[in-house]
Amino acid sequence: MARGCGAVPAALVLCAAAWSCAAGLALERDQPFRAPPGWTHGGRVDAGHELWLTFAIRQRGVGRLARLVDAVSDPLSPAYGKYLSLEQLRDLVQPSPATFMAVLKWLQGHGVHKCQSVTTLDFLECHMPASTAESLLPGAEFHRYVKGQRSVVRSPLPYTVPEELVQHIDFVGGLHRFPAERKVVSRAWAKKEMEPRQQHRGKAAFHLGVTPSIIRKRYNMTGADVGLQPNNSQACAQFLEQFFHQADVAEFMRLFGSSFTHRSQVDRVVGHQGTGTAGLEASLDVEYIMSTGANISTWVFSNPGRHESQEPFLAWLLLLSNMSSVPWVHSVSYGDDEDSLSVAYMQRVNTEFMKAAARGLTILFASGDDGAGCRRVSGGNHTFRPSFPASSPYVTTVGGTAFKNPFLVTAEVTDYISGGGFSNVFPRPSYQAAAVGRFLRSASKLPPSSYYNSSGRAYPDLAALSDNYWVVTNRIPLPWVSGTSASTPVVGGMLALVNDLRLQRGLPTLGFLNPVLYQLQEQGHGAALFDVTEGCHLSCLDGTVQGRGFCAGPSWDPVTGWGSPDFPRLLRALLPP
Ligand SMILES: *[C@@H]1O[C@H](CO)[C@@H](O)[C@H](O)[C@H]1NC(C)=O
Ligand SMILES: *[C@@H]1O[C@H](CO)[C@@H](O)[C@H](O)[C@H]1NC(C)=O
Ligand SMILES: *[C@@H]1O[C@H](CO)[C@@H](O)[C@H](O)[C@H]1NC(C)=O
Ligand SMILES: *[C@@H]1O[C@H](CO)[C@@H](O)[C@H](O)[C@H]1NC(C)=O
Ligand SMILES: *[C@@H]1O[C@H](CO)[C@@H](O)[C@H](O)[C@H]1NC(C)=O
Ligand SMILES: *[C@@H]1O[C@H](CO)[C@@H](O)[C@H](O)[C@H]1NC(C)=O
Repeated sequence: MARGCGAVPAALVLCAAAWSCAAGLALERDQPFRAPPGWTHGGRVDAGHELWLTFAIRQRGVGRLARLVDAVSDPLSPAYGKYLSLEQLRDLVQPSPATFMAVLKWLQGHGVHKCQSVTTLDFLECHMPASTAESLLPGAEFHRYVKGQRSVVRSPLPYTVPEELVQHIDFVGGLHRFPAERKVVSRAWAKKEMEPRQQHRGKAAFHLGVTPSIIRKRYNMTGADVGLQPNNSQACAQFLEQFFHQADVAEFMRLFGSSFTHRSQVDRVVGHQGTGTAGLEASLDVEYIMSTGANISTWVFSNPGRHESQEPFLAWLLLLSNMSSVPWVHSVSYGDDEDSLSVAYMQRVNTEFMKAAARGLTILFASGDDGAGCRRVSGGNHTFRPSFPASSPYVTTVGGTAFKNPFLVTAEVTDYISGGGFSNVFPRPSYQAAAVGRFLRSASKLPPSSYYNSSGRAYPDLAALSDNYWVVTNRIPLPWVSGTSASTPVVGGMLALVNDLRLQRGLPTLGFLNPVLYQLQEQGHGAALFDVTEGCHLSCLDGTVQGRGFCAGPSWDPVTGWGSPDFPRLLRALLPP
């Protein structure tokens, strides 16, 4: 690719065409370009093809932000719960005037004028023709990729920026990363094949499945555990080009919501809702956050960033930074392999979660449905494969469990799909040092240490049932829906109920939960959650680990975290007397 343009030390030299030859530095040298399975190359786009690119501008005050988040999230700190408004947050993180001017000057120098910023001034989203983007970001070359009805525009080649801009920009979004593909499935069809691995589930032929009343029964929630506070709120975010139907929510509540007060309509949809058939995952998220966090105002962030050069997940982060009033609890079922993302991107997204924590928002991510995951590394050996944002130290990550006796509301065991493990990017945060240290010292059968990085942020933080849910989609009740995208909205709804009581008493919202969660459990009040101690999750099917990842055990583990919530006890623990 590169041609002789003279030696530029430490710089990536790329020639996009014979007549243009530019020297610049790669911001995301480690970002792989990988069209996921099923996407086919549709050729280079026309020079005039309109693109939307996102510029993540270097923030100030990230160190101060980290200290502030520690203080406002730590119940032992005098600043606990003293959250910032979006405007106060802007004052803390907005880029320096020199940075902002350098970026604007660069863009304007290339004729890029159609840009929109966000309240915190640390992102710019700009529209420009492909030819402009290619001269702005030497090396980049925009091509179309197609999968079914969907089409994205991405650059298979790395981009660079002029050397003097490197200190002002974290990364440019819309070039390499594809929309994530994770989908929940109804396991009804897969059930037979999986039978040998899941003997604890028995024959399962007449299973009635998880419904809101089963959730309420298992987690000791009564009909009185519903929201009362008019300005309390919760949300789920969806990035899979899926829609939910208000009519499905209403039908779900008619079938399954008779024992508790609830709402039957989503209050606000931010983004684009299509009119096609409803998606299973979209229906699942909405139906379970609204039946657990019952009678609480619910928003759905739906398919933000629909332009084919946008990254929907990034578009959601921009929305959060551009809305002064957003729900207090967000349940997100989304993840990518850490090794498919650049470190610069993950670090910046992590900072975005710190910004959310500073505002008192609680952000929950599903831990993923591939257990410890598996990746072949050079030399042919395997390692586990952590998932991001599940591995971010500034989100609360939710794993999955199943009933020990599938026919009864019994104790829970590991759901073998429950995502968990150790980050290769983020070091272990102090709030979990004791818990993870204890696990590593006392676990009886740890996988070989070459499979995971024991110094990393370990996840999940807690768990809930993730197996055999009933979901209404396109007016049809469907059984056997499974995945941590089921457990996450359930935990989200419970935390929104805790917020409701806190708001009723004039207390601040929970905000970033992990410091208080780990403190509670460590202080011997461990009983706020049902400890899940049985079962292992899946991993590499090789001779060394034979499909087994980590195993649950007493106290915290990287399969089910601290376990699943015993709602009344969790509520008591999170409400001062
Ligand atoms: C942020 O909000 C403002 C005001 O509503 C709007 O003008 C702007 O376009 C938004 N920014 C983005 C990136 O959408
Ligand atoms: C919750 O239910 C379990 C059994 O499902 C029971 O052992 C526990 O004591 C209950 N907790 C409370 C606070 O009622
Ligand atoms: C449901 O919530 C509303 C406020 O949003 C409240 O006025 C009402 O009393 C709640 N209903 C019940 C039964 O608690
Ligand atoms: C909630 O409502 C109360 C009373 O109306 C108000 O004082 C408070 O500012 C509101 N909180 C939010 C976050 O909107
Ligand atoms: C692969 O694993 C084997 C057995 O654990 C080990 O002996 C070997 O050194 C590993 N190879 C590489 C390249 O890491
Ligand atoms: C292990 O994790 C740490 C961060 O906790 C990171 O610095 C290091 O590079 C990781 N090692 C590998 C082999 O990925």
